[in-house]
Amino acid sequence: MPVVTMIGGGQLARMTHQAAIALGQTLRVLAGSVDEPAAQVSPDVVLGSHDDLDALRRAATGAHALTFDHEGVPTRHLEVLQREGVAVLPPPQALIYAQDKIAMRKRLGELGAPMPKFAEITSVEDARAALDTLGDPYVLKAARGGYDGRGVVLLDDPEQAHRVAAEYLADGVPIMIEERVAMRRELAALVARSTFGQGAAWPVVQTVQRDGICVEVLAPAPDLDEDTAAAAQQLGLRLAAELGVVGVLAVELFETVDGEILVNELAMRPHNSGHWTMDGSVTSQFEQHLRAVLDYPLGDTSARAPLVVMANVLGAAQTPQMSVDERVHHLFARMPDAKVHLYGKGERAGRKLGHVNLVAKPGEALDVVRERANRAAHWLSHAQWTDGYDEHEHNEHGTDN
Ligand SMILES: Nc1ncnc2c1ncn2[C@@H]1O[C@H](COP(=O)(O)OP(=O)(O)OP(=O)(O)O)[C@@H](O)[C@H]1O
Ligand SMILES: [Mg+2]
Repeated sequence: MPVVTMIGGGQLARMTHQAAIALGQTLRVLAGSVDEPAAQVSPDVVLGSHDDLDALRRAATGAHALTFDHEGVPTRHLEVLQREGVAVLPPPQALIYAQDKIAMRKRLGELGAPMPKFAEITSVEDARAALDTLGDPYVLKAARGGYDGRGVVLLDDPEQAHRVAAEYLADGVPIMIEERVAMRRELAALVARSTFGQGAAWPVVQTVQRDGICVEVLAPAPDLDEDTAAAAQQLGLRLAAELGVVGVLAVELFETVDGEILVNELAMRPHNSGHWTMDGSVTSQFEQHLRAVLDYPLGDTSARAPLVVMANVLGAAQTPQMSVDERVHHLFARMPDAKVHLYGKGERAGRKLGHVNLVAKPGEALDVVRERANRAAHWLSHAQWTDGYDEHEHNEHGTDN
C-alpha cells in the first residue's frame, strides 16, 4: 500500500491516520515528540523538526506523497525535497498562499477574488497612508505564523493602529492592515483537488469564532441562499485549480451585512471547518485529503443529513477533578448520539482537546441540535452541564437527548 507522510503530529494528522487505516494504509508522521496526538497512534513516527531538512528527508524517504497538518514548513526546504523527487502536496508554490497572508492577498487580487481592502505595511510611513485609505476600524495581521487568532489585532482608531503597527515593525514582523469587515457571520468553503485535477466541494458551512478560535460549525450554513452557496463552492474550486492546490483547501469567508462574500484566508490541509464531515458526510475531509494526494478518484461529498453541528472541546480555565474517562461515560449515558473525537492532548485552558459531532435527528430544530452539541462539548471540558442537569438524579441507563 502507498505511504503518505504528514508533517506535524497534531490532531489533524491523528485523524488523517484514522482515515488511512480504513484505506489499508498507515500514515507516517513527522512529529516533535512521541506524545503528540498523531505520534500516539501511528506506528510509523519519524521524530524531528519540520524546520530541519534532514528530518524532512528522513520522513519523505520511500513515501508516495508528503503533506502537512500545519503551515510551518519553510518553503526553501520543500523546494529542495521537490527537486529531489518528493511529491510535495500541496506543492510549495501553492502552499505559500496559506503560509503568508500578504502573498495570499496579492495573489487573490490578481485572480479577482472578492476580499477585504488591505495594505502591506513595510514602514511607519506606509501605515499612515494605508490607514487613511482603508478607513477605521482596522485589523492588523502578522503575515506569517498566526493561528487561532494569534497575530491578529483588532484596532479602532488610526492612532492606536499606528502605534501597534510601529511595535510590530520594530520587532521586524511583516504585517498588513485590513479594513475590519462589518459581517453577518463567517462561512467556510471546503473543497478538495486531486493531483490529476479532479475537484469536489462539500456544502458551505457557517463557522462560529470566539476569541479568534473556532468553537462551532453548522453544516450547511443555515439560511444561506442557494446562489451564494453555489458561488462560494465555485470560488473554492476555482482557487484550488488556479493556485495548483492538491489536497483539501479551506477557504475562510466573511458574509458581509450586505450579503457579499469575501475571502478571509486559505488553509491547505484538513481544517476545523471540516471536522463535521467525519460523521456528517459520505466522505470525510481526512479520507479526501489522502485520496487527493494519492490521486485516487475523490469521494462523494454529500451530507448524510440535512443538518450537522460540530462543537469544539476547548480546555476549561480550571481542569475538572473528574477524569476524562468518567466525563465520556456520563456524556454517553445522556446523549447516545454524540460522536466524540478526542485528540489525546493534556488539558490546558482554551486548548483544542477534541470535538463533538451531532447529526440532527429527523425534524430536530437547529437551536436544539446546537444547544445539545455545545452542551456535550462543554461537559467534556468542564464536567458541568450547561442546563444544570444532575446525572446522579438519573438512572444509569436513562437517557435524555
Ligand atoms: N478583515 C477582518 N474583518 C473582521 N474580522 C476579521 C478580519 N480578519 C480577521 N477577522 C477575525 O479574526 C479571526 C482570525 O483571523 P485569521 O483567520 O486571519 O487569523 P488566523 O489566526 O490565521 O486564523 P486561524 O484561527 O484560522 O488559524 C477571523 O476568523 C475573524 O473572526
Ligand atoms: Mg482564520
